[in-house]
Amino acid sequence: MNTAQNPGKQAAAEAALEWIDDDMIVGVGTGSTVNLFIAALAARRGRIRGAVSSSEASTARLRAAGIEVLDLNSTGDLEIYVDGADEATRHGYLIKGGGGALTREKIVAAASRRFVCIVDGSKMVDVLGRFPLPIEVVPMARSYIARQITRLGGQPVWREGFVTDNGNAILDVHGLSILDPVSMERELNQLPGIVTVGLFAQRPADVVLIGDPSGLRKIVPQTDAR
Ligand code: A5P
Repeated sequence: MNTAQNPGKQAAAEAALEWIDDDMIVGVGTGSTVNLFIAALAARRGRIRGAVSSSEASTARLRAAGIEVLDLNSTGDLEIYVDGADEATRHGYLIKGGGGALTREKIVAAASRRFVCIVDGSKMVDVLGRFPLPIEVVPMARSYIARQITRLGGQPVWREGFVTDNGNAILDVHGLSILDPVSMERELNQLPGIVTVGLFAQRPADVVLIGDPSGLRKIVPQTDAR
């Protein structure tokens, strides 16, 4: 679906502006929902200090919108990170990486005090795993990691022909029912050759903004008054 015709994504993207204060440096994720957020953020470009981007694709969009892109090494930690997700639970646990930008997304999320996740209602699930879990791997470890994941009960599929912004490969893992996302993220992180697991559970979203044709819902898994 053309995102311009997805009122849920549009509503969530516009609602995220409530978390953007003047003089902020904004962490910016990747994907079609974030593209709508960048378009909305462009109206505030004179009032924010700039953005830290999670992908080459978002960097290009931010620059085209007249928003300065800053280096995370020089900004220090950020107040806010805004990003989409492929699946989200009411606890703020996420699967991300459908666009392959999971590593930089996880870095910027980790370096941000508050993570606002913007999704349409179709992304909300009770149990993560229907969407294949993306895992970024060092190319030489691809087959090794695939064998380990098969032993863990998943069915890895190499996203053939796709190279991440970091020069790595992606395995999309099918057939998982992720009942304990924190433990699974920790377990997969132990495997040498895995760069990033697309599970965002150890650092979940602080706020999930859910757009539906009927309106907007907000979930605040932990206490996050705003
Ligand atoms: C990018 O790698 C992903 O993590 C995206 O955040 C996710 O795929 C959501 O994308 P859409 O906003 O296009 O649905």
